[in-house]
Amino acid sequence: MPNFRHIVRTQDFDLDWLRRLYGQATRAEEAVETGIASSMYALTSKMMITLFYQPSTRTRFSFETAMRRMGGMVTSTENARDFSSAAKGETPEDTIRVVAGYGDLVVVRHYEEGIAARMAGMDVVPVINAGDGPGQHPTQALLDLWTIKKERGHLDGLTVALMGDLKYGRTIHSLIYLLAKYKPKMVYLISPPELALPTDIVDYLNRHQVPFQPVDDVRSIADMVDVLYQTRVQKEYFGSDADYFRVASRQIVDDSIMRLLSDTAIVMHPLPRVGEIDPAVDSDPRAAYFRQAHNGLFVRIALVDWIFGGWD
Ligand code: CP
Repeated sequence: MPNFRHIVRTQDFDLDWLRRLYGQATRAEEAVETGIASSMYALTSKMMITLFYQPSTRTRFSFETAMRRMGGMVTSTENARDFSSAAKGETPEDTIRVVAGYGDLVVVRHYEEGIAARMAGMDVVPVINAGDGPGQHPTQALLDLWTIKKERGHLDGLTVALMGDLKYGRTIHSLIYLLAKYKPKMVYLISPPELALPTDIVDYLNRHQVPFQPVDDVRSIADMVDVLYQTRVQKEYFGSDADYFRVASRQIVDDSIMRLLSDTAIVMHPLPRVGEIDPAVDSDPRAAYFRQAHNGLFVRIALVDWIFGGWD
């Protein structure tokens, strides 16, 4: 058994834990809205260290805000890739051993898959994976699922279309493992062939008997979906601009797509978007992506609380 609680990949969490997490996220939302979060969680002696080797707006700010809302402290670095001693060649194992002496929780985003797992494997301080290269982004998927639950009222038996960069999109990878637990009716996979879902995740869907179907054009299935989850093509993992532009934004969610969706369908996106959703869609009540980003604060408060043993 590890000494500490870590959040590295979504396969590690079961349905009971997810049910309790979402109860705690609801409690966190109420605590923030009524202004009692700082006294309720009282993390006055706790220090979060955020180590981001890749850019972030939502994940970093919502984790840091969560910690401060809970009464705790945050130590951070601007651009850890260039301004931490990783730039001098320090290994992730050495880095985590050192920062474990300064803080009580480390939130790490890295450009290389597996780094968060290596840091968590040292088990010297709790580690939260805030995105590891094209691997996973578990806290994003946890907030995505809570958003679906809030917006749709339930998680079982949904028809979900996952669209965009299924190869490098780490939010997609983490979300698929969670969706599989709720017996979806159908998962549609919409991407250019070059950005298809990695074979190990396809194998996972097959092993867990999750019905899925690759689709060329979202228009052919739009009227059947409960959730349309659009993603950005992850330019940072392409060898050249030419390779990126060959596949980027082939399918844009715009008014013509919105007209095909049912009244109760929702459109999600982990953000940032770079053209894959027309801003004209933002005023449609089915556009859930900014509510989704806001939900991140409450799910992350609940996750930090779990790390420190606040609910069991
Ligand atoms: N969704 C997400 O991870 O956004 P950031 O890159 O801004 O953190």
